[in-house]
Amino acid sequence: MTIENRKWILKERPMGLVKDSDFELVTEVLPKINEGEILLENLYLSFDPTQRGWLNDVPGYLPPVQIGEVIRSGGIGKVIDSNNPEYKTGDLTFGLIGWQTHCLTKPNADDRFRVVPDLLPIPTMLNVMGSTGITAYYGLIELGKPKSGETVLVSGAAGATGSVVVQIAKLKGCNVIGIAGGKEKCDWLKDIGVDDVIDYKNSDVHKELPKVVENGIDIYFDNVGGKILETVLELININARVLLCGGISSGYDATRPADGPNNLFSLIIKRATMQGFLVLDYLPKSEKALEEIATWVMEGKLQHREDIQTGIENCPQTLNRLFTGENKGKQLLKI
Ligand SMILES: NC(=O)c1ccc[n+]([C@@H]2O[C@H](COP(=O)([O-])OP(=O)(O)OC[C@H]3O[C@@H](n4cnc5c(N)ncnc54)[C@H](OP(=O)(O)O)[C@@H]3O)[C@@H](O)[C@H]2O)c1
Repeated sequence: MTIENRKWILKERPMGLVKDSDFELVTEVLPKINEGEILLENLYLSFDPTQRGWLNDVPGYLPPVQIGEVIRSGGIGKVIDSNNPEYKTGDLTFGLIGWQTHCLTKPNADDRFRVVPDLLPIPTMLNVMGSTGITAYYGLIELGKPKSGETVLVSGAAGATGSVVVQIAKLKGCNVIGIAGGKEKCDWLKDIGVDDVIDYKNSDVHKELPKVVENGIDIYFDNVGGKILETVLELININARVLLCGGISSGYDATRPADGPNNLFSLIIKRATMQGFLVLDYLPKSEKALEEIATWVMEGKLQHREDIQTGIENCPQTLNRLFTGENKGKQLLKI
């Protein structure tokens, strides 16, 4: 039986939001699988802001996608053929499956292809029960060490990662403030228990933030970087923890260098720490996080929402939704 794979390859490096013409959707006939290989029928793709950075020709924690290569992305596929004893037909497998309908690969210890339990809906497995939940859990709990009564501020608060962070912070007894774009997202944050919200698209964060953080900020979980980070540094408390998860407001789209805050001196005055982290370091020890997250989800204490686009031909537009803020929850695409 011949299997045709439709895949998006990189044609030229994008500037700003991506265009269909930066890529090419090509069809190839897949060869028979060799020893050690598996063939996946890709079911859902995960869209993450970091994917946009992988399209730039700059060194990062993974090499840039090269011209002619399939666009790298995480996702879940079903094993439809296996020549590898660790995977059997029918297994649902998570890995960097790429913007394509099928993924023929020889998994090795480094590339983290792993079989996932067929217990929860796949969108949930790619959201709170996947690297999104793990990022939020370890970033906030292990690095932020929230204490009851502390004030936690989260930017990108209505997004996939941010919305898990704000809820875990509430579960830990913190006063939680979220910054997000637009009324719908801010209303949703209130619905899931956030104490105060700031709509950065319709108000001036520099003016509004001091009004809602009268007691200062103990933990800042930063998803956006740029000017908001600079404003926050003026308002941190002694021993504050500033957690750099992402900087989507600057630098991902190759149009200009990332903005940096010009008031880092505030960290000295406030004896504060600022720490970047990558979820990749926490994936091998994610069991504890996933157990606790699963319990919160089952008890109805942790809400999650997924934004599911459909069709392999819609990959480029789906990536852009993360940068226009159109995504309502974890951005996925069902193939
Ligand atoms: N360190 C790690 O290991 C790690 C792992 C996962 C994610 N991250 C980072 O975490 C952040 C959130 O990722 P996610 O996957 O959960 O995506 P997400 O928050 O679900 O989606 C991205 C959101 O970013 C906001 N945004 C876009 N452009 C913006 C801008 N110029 N200024 C402010 N906000 C902007 C939009 O929300 P609004 O509508 O509110 O503007 C958009 O919905 C990203 O920075 C990502 O790189 C880091």
